[in-house]
This record gives sequence, structure tokens and C-alpha cells, in this order.
Amino acid sequence: MEYTSLIIQCEVTMCGIFGTVLKQGKAVELITDGLKRLEYRGYDSIGVAMIDNGELHLRKDMGKLEEVIENLNINEMNGLVGMGHTRWATHGAPNMINAHPHLDGSGQIALVHNGVIENFMELKDELIEKDHNFVSRTDTEVIPHLIQEEMKADVGLKDAILRVLRRLKGSYAIVVVTSLEPDKIYCARHESPLVLGVSGEGTYCASDVPAMLPYTNKVNYLRNGELAVLDVDGYQIMKISDGSYVERGLEEITWSLEMAEKQGYQHYMLKEITEQPTSLRDGLRLQEQYIDLITQFLDRGKEVLLTAAGTSYHSCLAASYIFSKIARLTTYPVVSSEFIERYGSTVGIDSIVLTVSQSGETYDTLKAIDHARMKAATVLGITNTVGSTLTRVSRAYIVQQSGPEIGVAATKTFTSQVLVFAQLAMRLAKMRGKLSQDELDEFDENLHRVPDMVEEALARNDDRIKELAEKLKDDKLFLFLGRGISAATALEGRLKVLEITYVPSLAYPAGESKHGPISIVEDGVACIFICPRGDTHSHIIGSIMEMKARGAKIISICEEGDNDIIRLSDEVIEMPIGIPETLSPIPYIVPLQLLSYRLAVMKGLDPDMPRNLAKSVTVP
Ligand code: F6R
Repeated sequence: MEYTSLIIQCEVTMCGIFGTVLKQGKAVELITDGLKRLEYRGYDSIGVAMIDNGELHLRKDMGKLEEVIENLNINEMNGLVGMGHTRWATHGAPNMINAHPHLDGSGQIALVHNGVIENFMELKDELIEKDHNFVSRTDTEVIPHLIQEEMKADVGLKDAILRVLRRLKGSYAIVVVTSLEPDKIYCARHESPLVLGVSGEGTYCASDVPAMLPYTNKVNYLRNGELAVLDVDGYQIMKISDGSYVERGLEEITWSLEMAEKQGYQHYMLKEITEQPTSLRDGLRLQEQYIDLITQFLDRGKEVLLTAAGTSYHSCLAASYIFSKIARLTTYPVVSSEFIERYGSTVGIDSIVLTVSQSGETYDTLKAIDHARMKAATVLGITNTVGSTLTRVSRAYIVQQSGPEIGVAATKTFTSQVLVFAQLAMRLAKMRGKLSQDELDEFDENLHRVPDMVEEALARNDDRIKELAEKLKDDKLFLFLGRGISAATALEGRLKVLEITYVPSLAYPAGESKHGPISIVEDGVACIFICPRGDTHSHIIGSIMEMKARGAKIISICEEGDNDIIRLSDEVIEMPIGIPETLSPIPYIVPLQLLSYRLAVMKGLDPDMPRNLAKSVTVP
């Protein structure tokens, strides 16, 4: 079985980068300070490369930022040109070798990277053929080697970098520092953030504005497909595609430093809700072999149990519908605190336990899988945190690529978990021949449209949700209802409202409401219905009518122009057209995340730190 080698494969997505060219002073102090402000982006290892007297110097190691800076005496490095990187690995154990910067074969070109190079295996094979030696397991290391290779064709550094960038598939923000051109920094981006800044003292580049805000508030956001050359007097930007120069003025940032850390958002929760189009795009870049490996295990198991807590459990619940509908696989979702009581005596060598935990450290979840492992079950993981206990104890795992989530309420990690499950279901359907090629193509196409759908849902509903929150801010009870997979969306929407607004709320599969919950419905009680188009659409209309007949205030989330739903509803949140029901939890949860956020803020509560809750529950 090749899974161990796959697990140690290393990639990086969420990382922090800071580079500077200064007129005078100690560039390294700005770099380490900048990295501290970017620590929220990554924190498993750090590295710095400086040009001192025309020579390249590099120090890097795994560990906490402050510790590595102190242990390696990084702040004693000299030079006016340099860059640093704080890394958050998304696969494999973080270690010194995998830490950035990475060097070319001659040791003259240092490069840091934030992103994922999807075609690195083929590029690496090509370079190995040409006698390049690699020391790390990263995708990044191929880039400096490619630059070295291109320079053999007697082109200058800039052209060599342009040629290399044109060959990369995937996402990147890169910064290059080299003794070949000791007064300059080259940097480029494609789908990973990079911002340039200038002051009277020098020029800067960083993953995010806060890193450079103490030195300048005049910035230029590099756009996809652009390369910039920085020197002490400023920068030049050019298009990677044809090398033509781009003129774009500086923008002035008016945020305070504290606001800048949240990229201008008032709270992390809002920032994290808003960045879902990006986290979902990253979640579609999982490497094929990880998906294949987990799918093979799922295919072989006699039974598949899905276990998790809180929001992660809701993603398991959604997954049970997706696996059933797409791959004809029966799975059993169970909250991890109930796992042992419910399945502890039956779980065994033929069981697959697919475990989901954003943090990878939730006590109940780890307890459940400890038990499963003792009974010789195969434990697989989906997590957002490399190096977490879940990654260490799982036979194989997938990192969902959401990036750090700081707000206590899970938002972007939920949508990415469902997206990972959808990819697994699609692969399993293919493996088992459960969908025709046309059906597979259609599902895949829809999957790839999901980030755009979320983007559209966010853009069109922002004002609408504020208006709705204003109307609902004094309500004392909410009832969330959905049929089929939307029952999972309803539960997750309820959890968001409950945990950050403290308003008592219930969520039920809509069909179940007449077996009890309907008794609490009276005039004006807010019933929130999740109504995507699909198999459950006609049933949900019946449920809405039941509640309407009892005086409920009907708030529906439905497709734009869905008049069957709209004419029954008091309030409507309209969603983009064409989202298949099996993928609907991803876009349909977004307005509910936003609604809970707006309600909490209107009530004067801090949505990032709800009372009595912790981001990671590591106690029994
Ligand atoms: C809800 C929330 C919690 C977590 C739960 C599991 O917004 O954040 O319910 O989902 O504590 O955490 P992980 O996924 O880290 O195991």
C-alpha cells in the first residue's frame, strides 16, 4: 500500500510571505516583524533569505515563529534585501527541509511560495531527467530549479522567471531573492494573494496588507498573471503572458492595524464567510491520489461510519445523502460523543470510520476513533489542520484546504468539508460505475461552478440579509426546516444562529415537524425553510403550507424566480439558478451564516467569541 508515501507528500496553501528592499537599516527586522503579523496565515515553520554583500544567506526551521527567530538568531542576519515565509503545511509533517525558502541547484536562487503547483510531479520528473537533485517533498522546490534550467538558455533572470511561470499549473504567490541580481526582488501571483507597497524607505511585498502597514499605507494589489520586479525605488509590473508592462497607481489604505488583520472586516467571522469562494476554489485542488486512496478504502469497507462533532457532524450528515445519491453508498453518520455507545460493540476490522474534524483535536472525536482503532477498524480523516492528532492517527487523510479559521463559529470549513465529500462521492461513483460518463461530467461541472455560485449568493444577498436581520432581531425563537439533504443545511443554520445569537432555535427535517415541533408554532413564529430545486421541492411546499396555516412567518431560501415558494413566503432570500440539490448545502448555508452574523452584531454580541464556546473542544 502506498499510502504512507502519499501522506508525507507536502503541499502548502495558506502561508505568509514578506519581502523588502530597503535604502538603509536592517531589512531582517522588518521581515520578522511582518511575518509575525502574518502568523494567522501559517505557523508550523519559518524561513528567511537575505542578500548580504551580494551573497545569499538562508535560515529556516520548523517551530513557532518566535522560537525559530530566537534559536537561529535570525534577527542578526544582515542586508537590505530579503524575504521571509511562515508556512502552514496542508499535507505531511512540517519539518526543516520542507520549510521555505527553497533553493535551486546552484544555491543562488531562493524562492518562497504560497499555493499549490498542480503539475509539479511532471515538472519534477522532467528536471530529474536533467540531473536536478531535490531535497524536499514540496511542490515549491521545482520552481527555483526550473528557473535555473531556463537560465541555461542564456536568457536573463526576468525572462527565465516569466518562462517558468507560464508553465506552472495551480495557484501561487512567489517571491524570488537571488545573488544573481542582489538589488532586486521578483514576485508574482496567480490565485494566491500578494500585495506591493512603497514608502520613502523602500519597497515591500507581502501576502497581506497588515504586514507592511507599519511602513506604508500605499499599496498595489498584484493581480492574477502578473510579475513584479522590486528595487529600492519602487517596482515595475508586467503581464506573465506576454511580458508587457502594466501601469496601475497606488491605493491608500485607511484601515487601522487591527482592522487590517481582519482585512478591513469588523470580525473574523464575516471575513471567513466572505472568503468562501476562495477556500472552495482551493478545496477543488486536492490531489487526485488522495481522493483515490480514500475512495478505495470506502469502496472496500463492509460498512462506512461517518463521525464528527458540531458543524463537522452536519457535513457528515450532508455527506450521507451525497454518498447515497451519487455513489449508492450507505453511510452512517453519528455524532462522535455517541459513537462508542452506538457502534462501539459492532465496529470492527471491516469497518471504515471516516472522521471529520476541522481542528483535528476534538476530544469526543479522538475518543471515538481511538475506540475504532482498538477494534481494528480503518480510520480515515478529513481535517483542516496538518500535524493535528487526527492526521497522526488516521490511516490516510485529506486536508480540506480552507486555511485557518479564527472565528469560533465554523463557516468556511463547513462548506469545504461538504465539497471534499462531494469529490469523494463522485470518485466512488466513477469507480463503481454508478454514474454514466455524461452524469459524471455534469456533476463535475456543477462542482466547479460551486465557488462562483457562492460568490454570487454573497454578492446578491448582503443588503437583503441586513434588511432581514433588522426585521428578525427581536424574535425569540427560530424554527429551521428542510427536506432531504436540506435537513443538514437546516441543522447547520440553526447551530449558527443558536451559538452566536443565543436565541433558542430548533431544526428538523421538514416532514418530521408535524410529529411534534408544529405544536410550538403560532402567529408570527419565524420558520426558515431551505428550498433548493430538486426531488424534495414539492414536499417542502406542503410543509410550508402547514406552517403558514398556523400563522408562522415564512422565510424561504429558494432559487431566484421560484414562484411556487415565493408566493407562499413572507420573506425570501433568492439564490443563483441551477444549483443541484446534492450540492445545495454549500451555497444555501451561506445566507444563514450571514444572517446569524448580522443578528449577533445587531444584538451587540461578539460573533467571534460566543460565550461558553471554544474553537477546539479538547475536553471530555
Ligand atoms: C460550530 C463549531 C463547533 C465545531 C465542533 C467540532 O460552529 O465550530 O460545533 O464544529 O466543536 O470541531 P472540529 O471540527 O474541530 O472537530
